[in-house]
Amino acid sequence: MKEQQVADVGDAPIKTGTRVLVRVDYNVPMTTDGKISDDKRMVDSLPTIRYLLERGAKVILCSHFGRPEGKPEPQYSLRPVYQHLQALLPNVTVQFAEQTVGTAVEQQVATMPNGSVLLLENTRFQPEETANDAGFAQQLARLGEIFVNDAFGAAHRAHASTVGVADYLPSYAGLLMAREIAQLSQVTAQPKRPFTVIIGGKKVADKMPLARKLAERADYLLVGGKIAADWQDDGVKRRAKIFIAPDQGLDISMDTVATWRPIIESSKTIFWNGPLGQFDVDPANGNGTRAVATIVSNSRAVSVVGGGDTAAAVKGFKFTHVSTGGGAALEFVEGTTLPGIACLKKKGEK
Ligand code: 3PG
Repeated sequence: MKEQQVADVGDAPIKTGTRVLVRVDYNVPMTTDGKISDDKRMVDSLPTIRYLLERGAKVILCSHFGRPEGKPEPQYSLRPVYQHLQALLPNVTVQFAEQTVGTAVEQQVATMPNGSVLLLENTRFQPEETANDAGFAQQLARLGEIFVNDAFGAAHRAHASTVGVADYLPSYAGLLMAREIAQLSQVTAQPKRPFTVIIGGKKVADKMPLARKLAERADYLLVGGKIAADWQDDGVKRRAKIFIAPDQGLDISMDTVATWRPIIESSKTIFWNGPLGQFDVDPANGNGTRAVATIVSNSRAVSVVGGGDTAAAVKGFKFTHVSTGGGAALEFVEGTTLPGIACLKKKGEK
């Protein structure tokens, strides 16, 4: 597969005061008492934000958070994320907009200082977001002069803030997005074999068809987590040898780890998406997941790990690349052209 080429924020014409609308993926894991349990997606977005601030731009950030039903729901407000962003950017003016679009937000943008940041409220508080409604995309586009998409984690969603808005503004990839494309292309282009895919996590309906497609390209497919419990053999013969963890409880067992070990150790490329146990319920459920992480990080394979929950579960281990994308990384590696990338300007295009 050919690597996807995009022009990134370094190619964008940015001057002091340029209003830049940046789509980030701040859909970060949060504990039940509202604390961010892993801020990787936020930290990884900082190079783009700093790049823009250094040039005196007005940086208008938008993101979804969770899956509210197209209306404001307090538990899905981005306010806690805004508070954390202030801590991550200590010497920068960071403001919060109580709405996503509209006259009040346009006023806030007009009065924000050059070289400052404004985070908009959750894009999914508007039903038009997931419908990729043109009117909503235009309202968002009015806030900026340039659009930068740095939300690799949401690039598989054709929504107004990830795709629609690119119809109305010059559009570029952010530095995080460009890096993700380059790193994940190592797995998609021509993976060194044996190529092993490890898959777990909860979004079973999303993941099951992708896992089956990946089984056509990989040599081994190792399945754990909720998806293992729900796995159904559809009887189709695929390239990969498939191993479903037979003993799925709160985590994969050490017996399963022992079965998987020689496969992982002999692999030259490994792509891992989704924790293998209920790590988010209780980190104590992570022993099997951590044992697999140890084997993967000690191996000499190119190892790419994807997914907010996976990244949190394997924090501290060394991999070739830890992606901010969950479903997006899975779809990218499976070979799908992601709509949030396809809508961006290609390098060399006028
Ligand atoms: C993710 O966490 O995978 C992305 O932020 C996309 O979220 P979604 O699955 O709710 O669209």
